[in-house]
Amino acid sequence: MIHFMIQFGRLKKMTRKYLNDRWCARCGRLTPTPYLVKNQKLFPENGVVLDIGCGNGRNANHLRLLGYSVDPIDMVDQPYSMQIVLGHDDLPQRKYDIILANYILMFLDENERSKVMYEILDRAKENAILMIEMYPAKDAHDYDFDEIVKFFLDRGWSKLRKSKDKCVLKFAV
Ligand SMILES: C[S@@+](CC[C@H](N)C(=O)[O-])C[C@H]1O[C@@H](n2cnc3c(N)ncnc32)[C@H](O)[C@@H]1O
Repeated sequence: MIHFMIQFGRLKKMTRKYLNDRWCARCGRLTPTPYLVKNQKLFPENGVVLDIGCGNGRNANHLRLLGYSVDPIDMVDQPYSMQIVLGHDDLPQRKYDIILANYILMFLDENERSKVMYEILDRAKENAILMIEMYPAKDAHDYDFDEIVKFFLDRGWSKLRKSKDKCVLKFAV
């Protein structure tokens, strides 16, 4: 009985973490985020897209259907994405026209997030668009969204759209 309870406790903990970490890969929601659909008119017409923490690929697939070339990356090994652990592995050594960070940055701790933010600066082409969406997910790390936006504004990016926890920024050198 005790053995069973320990095993069950472990399983419950593992399952909750598994679900939190991989929410989108498992939630079955295949439509792109409404914020992306609403703001895709701000994207350049053609271009190469980096989708960091792509989950089930719903945003990557949507943009592919619109004709974009997309590099989706996630720590979870999926046939449709590159396996990269953000904050530990490097982002692909390419330059991008559009970088998506939808519902991912809050899952990174301060060091991981900082590394990824500097990498985004490095991988952005002139006039690149960066979309960020965040929310205070359970078990996610704390964040100050205004500080994150300011990081980019201080480094040559401008604000095209910003609301609570969501923004579209443009990089003009
Ligand atoms: C809430 S989902 C967002 C998925 C997608 N961007 C979307 O909007 O549907 C978060 C994703 O981030 C991934 N993730 C979390 N931490 C990560 C890390 N350190 N490196 C790479 N991917 C990570 C998870 O595997 C999960 O697929």
